[in-house]
Amino acid sequence: MNVKEITDNIYYVGVNDRTLTLFEGLWPLPYGVTYNSYVVKGEKSVALIDTVNIDEVREFINNIRSLKLNVNIDYLVVNHMEPDHSGSIAEILRMYPDIKIVGNVKTVEMIKGFYHITDDSAFKVIKEGDKIDLGGKTLQFSLIPMVHWPETMVTYVPEDKLLFSGDAFGTFGALNGGVVDYEMDTDVYIEEMYRYYSNIVGKYGVPVQRALSKLKDIPVSYICPTHGPVWKERIGDVMKIVDNLSAYRSEEGAVIVYGSMYGNTAEVAETIASELSGRGIKPIKVYNASTAPMSNIISDAFRYKILAVGSATYSMRLFPPVETFMNAMETREIKNKDFGIFGSYTWAKDIVLTRLEEYAKRMKLPVKAALCFQHSSNDGTSAEVKKFVDKLL
Ligand code: FEO
Repeated sequence: MNVKEITDNIYYVGVNDRTLTLFEGLWPLPYGVTYNSYVVKGEKSVALIDTVNIDEVREFINNIRSLKLNVNIDYLVVNHMEPDHSGSIAEILRMYPDIKIVGNVKTVEMIKGFYHITDDSAFKVIKEGDKIDLGGKTLQFSLIPMVHWPETMVTYVPEDKLLFSGDAFGTFGALNGGVVDYEMDTDVYIEEMYRYYSNIVGKYGVPVQRALSKLKDIPVSYICPTHGPVWKERIGDVMKIVDNLSAYRSEEGAVIVYGSMYGNTAEVAETIASELSGRGIKPIKVYNASTAPMSNIISDAFRYKILAVGSATYSMRLFPPVETFMNAMETREIKNKDFGIFGSYTWAKDIVLTRLEEYAKRMKLPVKAALCFQHSSNDGTSAEVKKFVDKLL
């Protein structure tokens, strides 16, 4: 149990999950994850903000009970309907049968579909700008669709300048005793924020930018997301990370992703890395797409400016793990990269570069450099790589 008062009468009642290995069934969780929920206690009413994944409901309910509120919870605000946050709604409704579930029209539609709660009197439907007065604490709602689902909204408490931000500013990593960033070493959460954003929210850069501009004039002292620490001291840092990632602004550095069966494409990938290093580029991340976690490759490809992708020809297609990677890039509409492509063939000369160019064309991502070789590297390969890097930089 890790229940804390964040600021006057606003409590963290979220839970850690150190059991789940793959978030969304896809993304590794080496440090676990949190599902964050909060209680706001006003002078006349009490609100619960979001719930937790159903697997953690027992601890969640214990957390709420530990506050010894001695009053009913009047409102359950559902900022986001993905089941990692909405999973315990039905249990909360069982505990507090008179609670009003607060959401927008789309939220209600999803609750009916996911949890079969069909009694309209259970809901309080809000729209942009609506407020609920809890007595000395106001809940003010703003819709931020597609950050990360169509129903997503945020809830602001002006008296405390505190924002319940949903998935925005979330990150992987269970909490280790502290809740607010100043109580802990945040480096791992900041690092994991790149992976969280690129893996989970990466496709939705435009809606995230829209949400950021909507929130930019609101004074914020606390950001309370659905995953990871509450941000206070590092609000500027996390705002900058999310702004840069959602605007597809890259950091200096290079990522080389390759797929290779017998080491020939791998050898050229290493030569490209060596040449880039010789030109002073850092960091350089080289990933074998067959063995490196796709989650980390996507994260660094999102983060760094130079991206070189290479593949062996495989049954007249890209090598399958490279195809998976390029599908992930296309899904996330990745852009603004210094993009280079390279590949090898034995008898099917144009396949690899043609396939990679098709991706680039659909993604509107200009190919700055291309290198294709037959069989294996040879005496001319270093010179070819130098030319490739010249064009890439
Ligand atoms: Fe953590 Fe989009 O749910």
